Amino acid sequence: MRQHWWQSAVVYQIYPRSFQDSDGDGIGDLNGIISRLDYLQQLGIGAIWLSPVYRSPSADNGYDIADYQAIDPLFGTMADMDRLILEAGKRGIRLIMDLVVNHTSDEHPWFVAARQDPNAETRDYYIWADPVDGHEPNALTSGFTGGSAWEFDERSGQYFLHLFSRQQIDLNWASPALRQAVYQMMNFWIDRGIAGFRLDVVDMIGKDWCHNGVVNGPHLHEYLHEMNRKTWRDRDFLTVGEAWSADPELARGYSDPQNQELSMIFQFGFTWADRVLGGAKWETQPLDIVALKQALFENQWAMASAGWPSLFWSNHDLPRAVTRYGQNCPVAAKMLAIVLHGLRGTPFIYQGEELGMTSAMSETIETVDDVEARAIYRQLRKRGESAGQAMAKLNVFNRDQARTPMQWDATPKAGFTTGTPWLAINADHTQVNAAAEVGAADSVWATYRQLIALRRHSPILQTGTFGALEGDPEQIIAYTRSLGEERWLIVANFAETPISTTLASPAMHLDRYLISNYALPESEVPTLRLRPYEAFIARLK
Ligand code: GLC
Repeated sequence: MRQHWWQSAVVYQIYPRSFQDSDGDGIGDLNGIISRLDYLQQLGIGAIWLSPVYRSPSADNGYDIADYQAIDPLFGTMADMDRLILEAGKRGIRLIMDLVVNHTSDEHPWFVAARQDPNAETRDYYIWADPVDGHEPNALTSGFTGGSAWEFDERSGQYFLHLFSRQQIDLNWASPALRQAVYQMMNFWIDRGIAGFRLDVVDMIGKDWCHNGVVNGPHLHEYLHEMNRKTWRDRDFLTVGEAWSADPELARGYSDPQNQELSMIFQFGFTWADRVLGGAKWETQPLDIVALKQALFENQWAMASAGWPSLFWSNHDLPRAVTRYGQNCPVAAKMLAIVLHGLRGTPFIYQGEELGMTSAMSETIETVDDVEARAIYRQLRKRGESAGQAMAKLNVFNRDQARTPMQWDATPKAGFTTGTPWLAINADHTQVNAAAEVGAADSVWATYRQLIALRRHSPILQTGTFGALEGDPEQIIAYTRSLGEERWLIVANFAETPISTTLASPAMHLDRYLISNYALPESEVPTLRLRPYEAFIARLK
């Protein structure tokens, strides 16, 4: 199999609002990112996935785009963007843009025109439907309002669809003209020198709304194949689709090179290990480590011979992993990093994860920015819950918790801004920050840096075969990677209780430890003595 650059690189997600402010308005920007490129180079990443910076009214912090070919003044100018691509490139860092083409902002000129005139050229870029018995066309609801996903348009007497907020209007992928317009826009960015796209809610493109289907529509894969051919086909390009509905088998379908669709998708199976299946977003249960392990392993198995997995714990929509799985302990942050970077696939780090940044809780609704969280709060209150009860539920998933500004240093504004930060800085920045960690030999940051370098220099981590070790105590996640004669063992005690045991697959002998989150591992493979959250990667002989 031909090897791609993205099979040995680690990708770093930047949430631009919260990364680095350069002009004192309290909101991160492109010049801020440029000023931190040396930091990213030192960390060793190969690419940045940049969350949206296009012109947007910011109903959903940029996931509501009003102009795909302009930079929002909040973040800078197109010249700044060009400079970011150039300066990153000089440091061996590629740029991946966020492609939000399931919907546009209601302020996008396509929608403005479509609404003004039912005969407008862009009318069929969106999804319109006649009332049924004087009501909404069907029962689809919007995740970001809690109400109907249909909005009535007085002028034309039809409804239009918005599966997210009222400011995010769903595009009609059945329209060939819309698809061509999107591909043209993508080529505009490809010509500017970017190296990939992250495709927002890609499984919703081509929805079969009239059968209440919003994911995995009948033409989804056909559209992705067409997109591939019309845009990046002849380049070594990274494409990663966000697909909440995908199981590991579907993940293989999207990423099998034979199908000529995407390089990989984000598959969220593991995120259910501490949630009530089918329950509301705040309904959690204690982490089921076996379920978590199973979800990680199934992804590896499904794509062992075709397709390619993405590897991630966190992003701007999820709680911080160290809070969720590791009680905010730095040693657990390192464990999570080791387990993830040992797997086969492309690792994605969410900004601040390399410092062990933790989830921040909101005390009152007035301080919450997240459009989804605010909508759910309103619903909970309407149902009669007290403000305190509603806030407790919100704090389980409120997306603000992972969106607080980067913690560069221990000063009151964490080195993020000279102004008032758009979202309060997490109080733990006095301990958890880049100034304290870069250069400290035993920091979370040092573990990430070491892992990224290990991946870059170790073909076994890039393409080696994955082997599950099963039958070990529940709290242990253990697996191997193999390439030719070489075999590595990755082990993690995913719990805060220590454990002594012998691996269920005992025919293993330690050659040497390559990385560990305790100074001196005490295990004598195949016999393990693991302290709380202890993890290591070892070479076997
Ligand atoms: C994706 C994004 C999320 C956004 C939603 C709607 O899930 O990651 O942040 O709110 O799509 O665009």
